[in-house]
Amino acid sequence: MGRSFRVSIPQRSFCHLRYRLALVLFIFVLFKQYHLFFIYRKALAAKYSPTELLQFTKEQTWMPDEESAHFQDRLVANRAAWRNLGEGREGKTFVYQDSVIKTFTPGRSPFRNCAPGVTDKVWPTEVPASLYFGGSEHNATSSFHGFLPVQAYFMAVSSASQAEWHLVTPLLKGGNLKDLAIEARKQKQPYRDIDAHHRPTFERLLHTLGNLHEAGYCHDDIKSSNIFVADDAHWILGDLGNLRQVSHPYHSSLLWRENKQLSDCRANDVMRALKSYMRFVRDSAIDADALNAEFFDGREPLSRLFWSSTANCSHLSAAELRAKSITEHPHLHANSMVKTGILLPAQSYTWLSIFSRRWGRHYAVNHALQTRMGEKLARWWALTGLFGVPITTVCGVRYP
Ligand SMILES: Nc1ncnc2c1ncn2[C@@H]1O[C@H](COP(=O)(O)OP(=O)(O)O)[C@@H](O)[C@H]1O
Ligand SMILES: [Mg+2]
Repeated sequence: MGRSFRVSIPQRSFCHLRYRLALVLFIFVLFKQYHLFFIYRKALAAKYSPTELLQFTKEQTWMPDEESAHFQDRLVANRAAWRNLGEGREGKTFVYQDSVIKTFTPGRSPFRNCAPGVTDKVWPTEVPASLYFGGSEHNATSSFHGFLPVQAYFMAVSSASQAEWHLVTPLLKGGNLKDLAIEARKQKQPYRDIDAHHRPTFERLLHTLGNLHEAGYCHDDIKSSNIFVADDAHWILGDLGNLRQVSHPYHSSLLWRENKQLSDCRANDVMRALKSYMRFVRDSAIDADALNAEFFDGREPLSRLFWSSTANCSHLSAAELRAKSITEHPHLHANSMVKTGILLPAQSYTWLSIFSRRWGRHYAVNHALQTRMGEKLARWWALTGLFGVPITTVCGVRYP
């Protein structure tokens, strides 16, 4: 009896200790989960808050005239003939004759802006942004160049029997920079020639981007698939769905920082444009491997342009990059980095030195030029599957 009494006391207190520890751990996990839930909901709310299109009011929208209304009716009547071009987060993209029709399905990605003078109060930011920067093909022209004009915008019942916003723009047969790279690769040209041929077009694109920034906005989604090819000498800034004013709360949000975007959204757009261009040149070239091999040395004009811009990227403007691009012209001979006095930020890529073989270099360059922005983790912690994406848009106030 005495013996069993002596043993049972430490066993019971050990059990208690275990329960207490489990309880403390449970409370800690609960607290941590609540904290993550709160901070990621705040970050998503910032991302999906409206873009202030200050000068865009009801008076500046154009109502379809007879010609536009007829065009719209013809589009809707021929829905069965629309060819599917792709599907994104917000909806689908179709081609019909010389037009591209983009649909926005409610419930997928929140419509961030308030629509003036329509019964359904919210509309996708891309509609007013495209009207503002691209203008209308029929009624009102825009003072900006380098954006797609709007052929029509309307709400109509889709094939899935629900009312969806439609945005119609003229079809650019060249597609986007990714499509152009696939075509260019068939020409079997070295990257130096590709760069020399397309650099003036890239510099014109930077001019368009500079105008967007001067108007007070950032594109926020510059990547190869959002740079459209108008012709051999002109590229268009497409997909304005993420357009936000420079002071938008998203640019200082956790989501923005976690995606390693630059705090100045204009410089961020500029660096993303440069990365997209470099990726386009590399993917168009017959000697992509030579560019991969040279990239981290920074001896050629293109890689030198990239590294010198990276070294001073925090407030790099589109005009500054344009000026740099002109001085680092592709026809200049290869030069030593030591002569230019530019220090490569090689420290951050030292781990890459272990990848000495072909694919290693390829993926290392891909990594340096990547423009991906994710929010999967944020959505997971913010429990958007259960509670939806937090929405802060209040309509009927901004546009009375
Ligand atoms: N007017 C257009 N002309 C040619 N291709 C277009 C046009 N609009 C969109 N596209 C093509 O459709 C793709 C998706 O369009 P985008 O506006 O970027 O929508 P998403 O929001 O799905 O990214 C683009 O990458 C581009 O290839
Ligand atoms: Mg896109």
